[in-house]
Amino acid sequence: MNYQEIFIEVNKKLKSCKDDGTVASYIPELHKVSPSKFGVHMCTVTGENYGFGDSEEKFSIQSISKVLSLSMAFEIEKNQLWKRVGVEPSGNPFNSLVQLEYDAGIPRNPFINAGAIVIADILISKLKNPNIEFIDFVRKLSGNNEINYCERIAKSEKSKGHRNAALCNLMKSFGNIENNIHDVIEFYFDLCSIEMTCSELARTFLFLANYGVNPLDGEKIISSSKSKRINAVMQLCGLYDEAGEFSFKVGLPGKSGVGGGIAVVHPGKYSMVVWSPRLNKKGNSSKGLRFLEEFTSYTESSIF
Ligand code: DON
Repeated sequence: MNYQEIFIEVNKKLKSCKDDGTVASYIPELHKVSPSKFGVHMCTVTGENYGFGDSEEKFSIQSISKVLSLSMAFEIEKNQLWKRVGVEPSGNPFNSLVQLEYDAGIPRNPFINAGAIVIADILISKLKNPNIEFIDFVRKLSGNNEINYCERIAKSEKSKGHRNAALCNLMKSFGNIENNIHDVIEFYFDLCSIEMTCSELARTFLFLANYGVNPLDGEKIISSSKSKRINAVMQLCGLYDEAGEFSFKVGLPGKSGVGGGIAVVHPGKYSMVVWSPRLNKKGNSSKGLRFLEEFTSYTESSIF
């Protein structure tokens, strides 16, 4: 298939829709991004690449990094991990506190903020140099040694991150955080601050489209069983309280971030990233969702 032409075609179809939503402002630095940015990149498991629009421009990957931290922690902790975090959709906003109280400090899944904070805590417990080892993992997956945390964005979120601190404190009170709260939260914000382009991020996700193996060099990143499970959690929980609608309309495992990115994988075929900073009320990229819906319909490439 000539995906390049399909991207142009799908983008034309969206021209008649209003580019609605607003750029995230609760992290002040994110609000500075131009709302009209739009990029797409696809990597196929056979090594082809297709880009469109602002696909080579860096953006803040935010919660998309939660898939990468989960991959690393799952590999280290194996099934022990699921004692501290669940695999059920939350049906609640990504930063909700109420459910966590009812669930006695065990987050519903690793993609809501509370779950990702537990994963950050696990990495701190298990790694000698969590910041360095994690970014090395992302660099290896992306094939780019320049990928880095963005200090400016991390600092901006740290200045306003009271809700995440509340989640961490609540979990600590239930005994589900092992390390110092400040260290855990700082590491969590660093993970969210990573900047990548659509093409770098699509390449990073390729192992999940290829049963845990990087198809470009044959390196096994995680087992196929773990890859299956991570994709299943993405399918059910990757878009928070919009995960059902995302399955219904797009039909691929996916993960969003408040920077406006959405990463999806089609196991056995491709990984793909769209980026458009305007977010809908659930905190997911508005145009990104519409593009993916049109794309999987047009190419008949949903997994369903
Ligand atoms: O913790 C936060 O609120 C952000 N650093 C990440 C949230 C996020 O990306 C949710 N995704 N749609």
